[in-house]
Amino acid sequence: MAYETLIVEIEDYIALIRLNRPEALNALNARLMQELAQAIAAADRNDKVRCIVLTGSEKAFAAGADVKEMSEKSFTDVFFDDLFAAEADSIARTRKPLIAAVSGYCLGGGCELAMMCDFIIAADTAKFGQPEINLGIVAGMGGTQRLTRAVGKAKAMDMNLTGRFMDAAEAERTGLVSRVVPAKDLLAEAMKAAGKIAQKSALTAMVVKESVNRALEGSLREGILFERRMFHAVFSTEDQKEGMAAFLEKREPQFRDR
Ligand code: HXC
Repeated sequence: MAYETLIVEIEDYIALIRLNRPEALNALNARLMQELAQAIAAADRNDKVRCIVLTGSEKAFAAGADVKEMSEKSFTDVFFDDLFAAEADSIARTRKPLIAAVSGYCLGGGCELAMMCDFIIAADTAKFGQPEINLGIVAGMGGTQRLTRAVGKAKAMDMNLTGRFMDAAEAERTGLVSRVVPAKDLLAEAMKAAGKIAQKSALTAMVVKESVNRALEGSLREGILFERRMFHAVFSTEDQKEGMAAFLEKREPQFRDR
């Protein structure tokens, strides 16, 4: 499938999706968001994909929603159109592991998109921010919600109220990103992490993702119960038999996602 705003490659059970609007620092316009939701949903359904990596360019993961496209919109336009809500919900509902590999600017809707992923690997050049307040608007795809869960109230208020950028070191210190790597190694490191995940059973990885996400939705009691039931459920899979047999036989497991 050919996209206008993305480059998609699938190899070795990894789908690599690159945002590709270099003229606008990968600003998220309607076309890009539709294509991205479509490409991620297709990868999610593809049994030749076990992990998805989302990245941008060296200069920008994404500098936010496209201000040119948004500037003339009225309240009723964005209310009835529900700008990017369907695409954001679809991306956030992805069942397979989704890694964001972030270099350069990761701002506004770009930061919100990165936070919809399961974890973020950042280049040492990465800059995160929710600068919407500078435009007289507020974050609209999770910048006040996912950021607060990721870094806590003090940092989230600071970022959303001042619009300042956080560098990669601060992002790692506060838990927004899982690791920081030299910019030149970003894609290789992200692909290496994806490669590790792609060696596992897709079924088990999807159960892990669903279980961790439960920690952020609902009570601890419900989350623990969900995890325990999932722990029970994976004993019905062929991959559990294979994984444990391989360990006992001191060999690598051959997972079949069953
Ligand atoms: C449209 C953008 C853009 C954006 C950059 N560009 N960000 N176009 N929407 N969000 C364009 C510029 O207009 C310019 O195009 C080209 O990309 C290069 O950008 P420069 O500004 O010349 O680069 P630089 O001086 O290096 O500054 C980089 C920057 C700055 C600091 C990232 O571009 C910037 O502040 N961008 C806006 C960031 C922002 O406010 N994001 C939040 C958007 S609101 P030309 O044609 O002039 O060369 C949002 C809400 C989400 O995201 C809610 C969704 C529901």
